[in-house]
Formats: sequence, structure tokens, C-alpha cells
Amino acid sequence: MLMKTETAQTTGSQDIENTTVLERDSIVRKSLILGSGAYLPERIVTNDELAKRIDTSDAWIRKRTGIRQRHIAAEGELTSDLAVAACRSALSTAGVNSDEVDLIVLATSTPDNTFPATATRVQALLGIKQAIAFDVQAVCSGFVYALSVADNMIRLGQARTALVIGAEVFSRILDWEDRGTCVLFGDGAGAIVLRAGMSEAGSQGRGILSTHLFTDGSHYDSLYVDGGPGTTGKAGCLRMAGQEVYRHAVHNMAEAIEIAIEANGLSLSDIDLLVPHQANIRIIESISRRLGVDNDKVVITVGSQANTSAATIPLALTHAQNDNRIQRGDLVALSALGGGFAWGSSLIRW
Ligand code: ACO
Repeated sequence: MLMKTETAQTTGSQDIENTTVLERDSIVRKSLILGSGAYLPERIVTNDELAKRIDTSDAWIRKRTGIRQRHIAAEGELTSDLAVAACRSALSTAGVNSDEVDLIVLATSTPDNTFPATATRVQALLGIKQAIAFDVQAVCSGFVYALSVADNMIRLGQARTALVIGAEVFSRILDWEDRGTCVLFGDGAGAIVLRAGMSEAGSQGRGILSTHLFTDGSHYDSLYVDGGPGTTGKAGCLRMAGQEVYRHAVHNMAEAIEIAIEANGLSLSDIDLLVPHQANIRIIESISRRLGVDNDKVVITVGSQANTSAATIPLALTHAQNDNRIQRGDLVALSALGGGFAWGSSLIRW
């Protein structure tokens, strides 16, 4: 049974459904997405520019990955700066004031400093006093992990309005001599605003329907950074067994969506929009083929943004939102895989 005081807390300025039915056992808290925002650094580096520095070509990169260009952070531009810009944009789209935010979860593998959490600097830069703020590190699947944590905290009543952020400056952990990896990544940030709402238990009404997370640490060495405060004391560079990552990305990301669809009693044909992690166009196409999702239902940003790790999904969501590709009530499916391997999916009724 929900108490009246809880109900009062969860009744926000907009988008709260069924708030007239407040004290029934069947009413549960749910996380609604009120809006998303993004930020990409100004500087664009094309494949041709890279081909002047390393032994590669625009044709090779496009054919193998679909990537045409990437954004690279300016000197002194930090993960927190990118995150703050994305949050401001998300708050403005959502029509939420920063002083309403009581939870900030930031997914990143490129924190400003080893500690404290970069989320705390984001909190300070946004002038938010009352929120709790922390980072989540699950590499390219970080946003789905952060979304799961924030969703669970909202549903448990530990938070009411959350900023969930994916922000990265992967350009700072790349070996710019290694053509097998440095062409794949870019910098950027995306954020969404979540707000507690009420819904009939078990209903498919608006909000996050589920998150499913998976980890298999036996693949630790397939994708890692060869340094860190606990080993070399230096930041290190990204190392990757590309084909191993590729195989697992296709299988695990697709399977995570199949599991989520089944758990919610839905079918794959119910998906209105597929927003996969953006690592490689061939991975995305293989996943959508396996799931039987038409190309026009798949959001693709990898060509212009490359792989921004934890930021790709909120960047792609913002891209779709700004292009009016997501309508209220749409079933949106997210899926990602990254180092660990860690992977997961989320289904959202927009
Ligand atoms: N330009 C030109 N040639 C290159 C480049 C480059 N940038 N990179 C590698 N090559 C060469 C290799 O040296 C190799 O040459 P060789 O045959 O003379 O030895 C040849 O191209 C083929 O190399 P492969 O590694 O076999 O190429 P592959 O078809 O597997 O493509 C790629 C490599 C694009 C990295 C692919 O494996 C891939 O996309 N893997 C997924 C990795 C990924 O996306 N990681 C991101 C992080 S994890 C995630 O986000 C899911």
C-alpha cells in the first residue's frame, strides 16, 4: 500500500499517470523518461585526417565500421564538462529545474580523476545541493547499468528525479599509433531525466518496463586498458581483441533484448525503436537482422559520432528525440555490450 506522503512526493509537474488512483495496492512506482539531452565536442576529426597520421584509409574505416568521423574533446575539456552540457540540455527538454534533481548517476570509464566520482563535479557545476551523486563503471554498457541503478532507486522510493548520464573522453585512453583501435572511438555525452510516476502493477503503461544486466568476467582480457591506479599508476591505453568483441557483441546484445521481450510478455514485432550501442554498423545490422527489426526502426549515429562508449545510447536517444522519431507510448529497446564483458538491455514505454 502506498502512503499518501509518498504519493505527494511522486506527483511531479508533468507526465505522471494515474495519479487520481493513489491508494490501491495495485499501484506501483515507475520511472518515466521526461527528456534527454546531448553534447558533442566542437572539433570533428574525419577518417581522412586520421589517414594522414596512421596507415589507414577512409574506405577501410567506412567499410569495416561505418564510421565517417568522430568528435574529439578540446584540451582541458573534461568528461564532467561534456556531462554538464548534456544535463543542461536534458533538463531544459524535460522542463525540470536542477533543484528538483535528487539523484545523479554517471556512467563513465574516463573519469576526470580516479576519485572522487565525476558525478560529484557534475553536481557541483550544476549547483545541485540536495542530490546524491556517484559513478557507475561498466564501459560501453555503462548507461544501461546506470539506468538500472537509477530505476531501482526510484522504484524503491530512494529518489524521485534522476539525471542518468553517459559521458566519455575515450580519446584520452587511445593508443593513437594503433590503427586497429584508435579509428573506432570518439568523445561525447548524453543524459536523460527520470521522474517517479505511478502505474498499475504489471501494466505496460509508460515508463521503464525492465532492465536486464549480465556480466562474464572470463573475457576481461578481450577489451581492457593496460594501466590504472592499481597496476601501473598510469592511465594506460585501450587494448582489444576486435573479432572476439564483435562476435560476443552481436550475440549477447541481441539475446539481451530477446530475454527482455520474453520477460515482459511482448514480441519482437512490438519494438517501435531499437537503440543499440553504437560500436560498428555491421554489429548493429547483424543484431537488427537477427531480431527481425526493420532498418527504419533502428537509430544509427555511429557514422557521425563513432563509438563514444557509455555515451552512445543517450546520444542516440537524443538524436531520435530531436528528429521526432520517438512518439509517446512507443516501445523503445536499448542494448549494449562492453569490456568485462558486461552487457544488458532495457525496455521502455516512452
Ligand atoms: N586501417 C586499415 N587496416 C586496418 C585497420 C585500419 N584502421 N585496422 C586493422 N587493419 C588491418 C589489420 O592490420 C589486418 O591486416 P592484415 O590482414 O594485414 O593482418 C586487417 O586490417 C584485418 O584486420 P581484422 O582485425 O581482422 O579486421 P576486422 O574485419 O576484424 O575489423 C574491427 C576490425 C573493425 C576492429 C572489427 O573487429 C570490429 O569492429 N570489432 C568490434 C570491436 C569494437 O567495436 N570494439 C569497440 C569496443 S566494444 C563495443 O563497443 C561493443
